[in-house]
Order: sequence, then C-alpha cells, then structure tokens
Amino acid sequence: MTTEDQLVRDIAVEVPGATAVFRRHKIDFCCKGGVPLSEAAATRGVDVNSLIAELSGLRGEAVEAPSETPDLIAYILERYHEVHRREFPEAIRMARRVEAVHRDSPDCPQGLGDLLAVMAHELDEHQAREEAVLFPAMLNGAPFDLSFPIRRMLMEHDDLGDQLETLGKLTTDFLPPPGACTTWRALYAACQKLDTDLRMHMHLENNVLFPRFSGNLAGDARD
Ligand SMILES: [Fe+2]
Ligand SMILES: [Fe+2]
Repeated sequence: MTTEDQLVRDIAVEVPGATAVFRRHKIDFCCKGGVPLSEAAATRGVDVNSLIAELSGLRGEAVEAPSETPDLIAYILERYHEVHRREFPEAIRMARRVEAVHRDSPDCPQGLGDLLAVMAHELDEHQAREEAVLFPAMLNGAPFDLSFPIRRMLMEHDDLGDQLETLGKLTTDFLPPPGACTTWRALYAACQKLDTDLRMHMHLENNVLFPRFSGNLAGDARD
C-alpha cells in the first residue's frame, strides 16, 4: 500500500509503472526523489490522495483468471495485451536513458533498449494476430482448424521466451549494481514486471486457452 510518507524514489523502484505517473505529474523521481510523496505532490499542486489512488491502481492485484473461454480471452486482452502495450514504451525510454548516461560503467546494460524495442515490436505484431484472427475464431466456436495458427503462436512464444532469457542476462536477473541511480533501479523493476507478466500471459495461452482448441500442442515438439 502506497502512503504519503513513502519516498518518491522508493515508490519509483517498488511500483512498476510509477515512473510514468510521476512523469505525467512532473514529479522528479530521480535527482530529487528523496522526499515524501506528500511533499512532492504539494510542490506540484497535486492532490496526494488522488495520486496515491493512481499509484495503487498500478499494483495489479493478483486476480485468478476466469475459466470460461470468452471471459478468459477478455481477461488476457485487458490484463496482458493492454498492459504490455502500456509498459514497454516506458521501459524502453528508461533503458535508452540509462545506456546514454552510464555508457562508461562496466555494469551498463548495453543493448537493453534495442532488445526491449525488438521485443515490443514483435509482441505488438503477435498480439495483433491473436486479436484479429485467433481469438475471434475461438469466440466463434472455431469455424476452421486452428492448429496451424496456434502452432505459429506457440513458436512465437518460444522466441519471446528466448528474448526473456537474454533480458535476464543483460540485467543480471533484474539486480541493479550497488549505487545504481533511481532510473536504473526503476528500469530493472519494470523489466522484472514485464518478465513476470509475459511468462504468466504465455502460460495462460499455452497451457489453459490453446489446449481447448488444439489438444496439447504446447507440450509437443513444434518444429
Ligand atoms: Fe496473447
Ligand atoms: Fe500469445
């Protein structure tokens, strides 16, 4: 639970997505982040309670996925597709900044911005295909054989899994180096959130949704 006494920089690290909220309210979470949220809000003329409500909304309480297919698809779209679309741009922005400011540090995650940009682009196309073809077909009772499009989605999930491995290596499993600045720490927290969400998203599709239309393709060799 976010409180008005918490330091802005701590919230920026602990709450993925908080940096975007702070930027929107022009609250400095990097160089001047060592102040309580109440003070930062007052400085910017923002109502601290509405700010807390906004930040609390980011916490993404664990919600059990619904079981009925239409509800499950709606849940995947809202909880994962839309959330990834919202969170990738901020992570890319922070990665570019960290790489520019700390390029001489041996711990600098060189190439992280490019990796995230490629992931975001490929995921965008992948999700668009699910939204345009696969999910509508599932909602219409699978009027044609879905095993080919599902196999393709599974292969793309595999590629994304490889990219997540690279993401973990580049960020030393989301552990920032000692003394890392707030943006750097917020970047790794955002990457960890992306990793967690993407893995849960793929789990729901591979292991819950897709087998309803294809048997257990997720467990098969896919080449
Ligand atoms: Fe998806
Ligand atoms: Fe997918």
